[in-house]
Amino acid sequence: MYKIGEIVSNRCLKGDYFQAVFYHPEIAVKAIAGQFVHVQITQMSANILRRPFSINNTDPEAGTVQITYKVVGSGTEVLSKLAPGAVCDLLGPLGNGYKMPADDEIPVMIAGGYGTAAMFMISKLAKNKGMLLVGARGDADLILLEDYQAQGTEVKVATNDGSVGTQGFVTVLLEDLLKNPEPGKKYRFYACGPTPMLMAAGKMLCAAGRADGELSLDHVMCCGVGACFACVVKVKDGDTFRYARSCSEGPVFTAGEVYYEN
Ligand SMILES: Cc1cc2nc3c(=O)[nH]c(=O)nc-3n(C[C@H](O)[C@H](O)[C@H](O)COP(=O)(O)OP(=O)(O)OC[C@H]3O[C@@H](n4cnc5c(N)ncnc54)[C@H](O)[C@@H]3O)c2cc1C
Ligand code: FES
Repeated sequence: MYKIGEIVSNRCLKGDYFQAVFYHPEIAVKAIAGQFVHVQITQMSANILRRPFSINNTDPEAGTVQITYKVVGSGTEVLSKLAPGAVCDLLGPLGNGYKMPADDEIPVMIAGGYGTAAMFMISKLAKNKGMLLVGARGDADLILLEDYQAQGTEVKVATNDGSVGTQGFVTVLLEDLLKNPEPGKKYRFYACGPTPMLMAAGKMLCAAGRADGELSLDHVMCCGVGACFACVVKVKDGDTFRYARSCSEGPVFTAGEVYYEN
């Protein structure tokens, strides 16, 4: 029998990207797409700050929660070295999550970097499997595409260097879809990725009359539960803006709610 927070598996997917599965039945049963776990990597000697990771997948029957992460600093470095049996402290599921598409809607998931991890449960649970539009610098940052394809989701890729798919940013793929939608199809838009990509996608969605598209604004976090204001993002408030806590009021905001600087 596993302990709560115990690592069941932790493996390198590709390059700097890893995937960890934790035993945590409560989170596994409750989590919805777009929520996150706040992980205290108890094995870190110097730093007790938790690290937020999107819930990539759950298995409620097995009681497990999966995250997919890129090694970018000390916390993810330590995490990547943990073997099955190590125990971390997980808070979650946190955040509001995405609203699932209605049965007659087709999800369009717009992703960059680990954004493919955050939106996978939409692909898994939606009736229509829709499409994933994914942007990356090159092949090294393309992850989890086979998981989407295995669900029946169509995958379209754009890379900066043109080494895979269309050359350019993922917004090239989005623009094409917004200009040439398939007649009679009802799309519902979701996005997760680097902030510049989200801002560009959000503005395009608003301009196309799709301000209901949902963006996950993954800001650096501290407490993760709405108490410290470390994670604020600007959202519209009449003609001006207010600061919203991305951990507790988000991380998912509609494209119409987001305040765009320019
Ligand atoms: C809601 C949410 C969900 C997330 N989901 C995932 C996920 O599924 N997979 C994944 O790989 N990462 C995810 N992240 C980012 C992840 O939390 C950071 O990469 C991680 O905390 C870095 O910890 P570290 O100690 O390794 O790096 P640190 O030493 O703390 O930082 C190293 C570098 O990473 C940058 N960084 C730290 N936090 C973030 C962040 N939130 N966004 C962008 N850059 C950051 C720092 O500015 C610094 O340049 C998510 C963040 C949020 C807020
Ligand atoms: S991280 Fe503390 S309020 Fe959001």
